[in-house]
Amino acid sequence: MSWPRQVQLLAVASGAPQYPKTGLPEVAFAGRSNVGKSSLINALVGRKGLARTSQTPGKTRLIHFYQVDQLFILVDLPGYGYARVPEPMRRSWRPMVEGYLAARHQLRLVVFLVDVRRTPSHMDLQLKGWLEARGVPFLVVATKLDKVSRGKRASQLLGIARSMGLDASGVLGFSSVSGEGKRELWRAVLEAVSGQEQGGGFSP
Ligand code: GTP
Ligand code: MG
Repeated sequence: MSWPRQVQLLAVASGAPQYPKTGLPEVAFAGRSNVGKSSLINALVGRKGLARTSQTPGKTRLIHFYQVDQLFILVDLPGYGYARVPEPMRRSWRPMVEGYLAARHQLRLVVFLVDVRRTPSHMDLQLKGWLEARGVPFLVVATKLDKVSRGKRASQLLGIARSMGLDASGVLGFSSVSGEGKRELWRAVLEAVSGQEQGGGFSP
């Protein structure tokens, strides 16, 4: 039988009153709309249709909590920074997502997704600064690795690390299509939920 055995949608929330009250440790997935947060959660747990994904940015509009066995919770956050997303939704993003990130005591790690093909945006850098200022541990994951030829991957990852002020090993490559990076990401997630602090970037 494959692990995890059971993954279920526990709660969908726009604010604290709707957060689940299990007290289990949480790992949240943040980043630009369409970067691949929901796809990454599906790839990680090996359940294709668990989190809804779309080619159109703005698919995940509320905070989704997925419980993994009786162990921990993966939190799919709505994305930011896409011009075509309707204005009311853009306005509601900040209180919804920052409210969660600022106040959730059982949050152990933010997996911060960027697209391996793109230079991190102004909003990516803002989120990074915000997480650092509040001491929220995060790990930068550059996803859609399958879209970049093998020869160009190392330099893309290095460029992202530099523009985010991290060292070269501070950005983990990942692909929801090929599964590359899955083992390393699981290691980081399990370390975080088992109480071993990560602190300020993948490899400070
Ligand atoms: P929002 O919910 O809008 O914030 O987006 P999201 O970050 O959850 O993105 P989502 O997982 O819905 O994926 C967006 C699109 O990117 C979909 O068409 C996915 O199939 C595609 N995608 C996601 N991850 C990968 C990847 O690793 N490789 C490739 N080739 N495509 C990917
Ligand atoms: Mg999504």
